[in-house]
Amino acid sequence: MIRFAVISTKGGVGKTTLTANLGALLADLGLRVLMIDADVQPALSKYYPLKHQALRGLTQVITSGVITSDAISMVDLPVNGVLDIVVSDTPEGQIQNWLINQTYRERRLYAPLHSAGLEEQYDVVLIDTQGAVGPLQDAAALAADILISPIVPETLSAREYLSGTMDLLQRLTYGGAYLGPVKALIYRQNRTADAQGIAQQIRREGHIPLAGRVTVLDTVIPSAVAYNNAATSQTPVHWHDRVTRGATPCAYEVMHRLAHELMPNLADVWAGNIGEGDA
Ligand SMILES: Nc1ncnc2c1ncn2[C@@H]1O[C@H](COP(=O)(O)OP(=O)(O)OP(=O)(O)O)[C@@H](O)[C@H]1O
Ligand SMILES: [Mg+2]
Repeated sequence: MIRFAVISTKGGVGKTTLTANLGALLADLGLRVLMIDADVQPALSKYYPLKHQALRGLTQVITSGVITSDAISMVDLPVNGVLDIVVSDTPEGQIQNWLINQTYRERRLYAPLHSAGLEEQYDVVLIDTQGAVGPLQDAAALAADILISPIVPETLSAREYLSGTMDLLQRLTYGGAYLGPVKALIYRQNRTADAQGIAQQIRREGHIPLAGRVTVLDTVIPSAVAYNNAATSQTPVHWHDRVTRGATPCAYEVMHRLAHELMPNLADVWAGNIGEGDA
């Protein structure tokens, strides 16, 4: 089982959209995927319709330290594999206050996500996080094997990205905790020369202040209306935007590139038509 956390110290960069679309694609490729909504604002929990809403969710997982079936909801999409979710059920942010008072609070998601039972049940865990520093974000980062960090190529965002990510790395590696590698993902790139210049600069120099702890993925997620349309219709973007017309690659292509780059063992696997087997 591999655990990814989608992390950014800046809000509104596309974490939830990315988690939902990557989760659904991996499930469509036949994998058993568990998404965890670790944001107190439950955007991922509402992204897709559910066919089974569990009685419990994130609060139970964090406070008990285990994931039991009564905390696992099922997404209602005809994917080839499995797409389940632990929903966020802490709208007032109570879990953050609870966490602040715990010893080993950074380990509160690590333990449930490293249990032998869960390892047998799922191939991939994908954690969506909130775009704000806090104990929940720390716990999610430390629970993951790999951190995926979307960065929108705008000057201000890129600066915030560097300083925010440096703070995160410094804070979480303090005391010898093990933080997985960070993979930056150039996200929501538009076709302006400005955005392309900043993206190139991030590739050339972005990793330097981060002392080799961060690599930039080759895949770039473009800015495209298909991602908004898919969210509105509560379906995965790779179902919608399947043919490239013009200069922006279609979401089917882009999301597969990302999945293949993150999980090279999937390199020859492509999603079929909706509800069919592999193409
Ligand atoms: N590739 C894309 N192209 C264009 N728009 C996108 C793309 N991906 C996401 N968006 C839009 O960007 C906005 C922010 O996305 P999203 O909610 O996923 O960000 P977030 O990082 O989860 O935000 P928060 O920090 O509030 O949790 C949404 O309106 C979403 O539809
Ligand atoms: Mg979000």
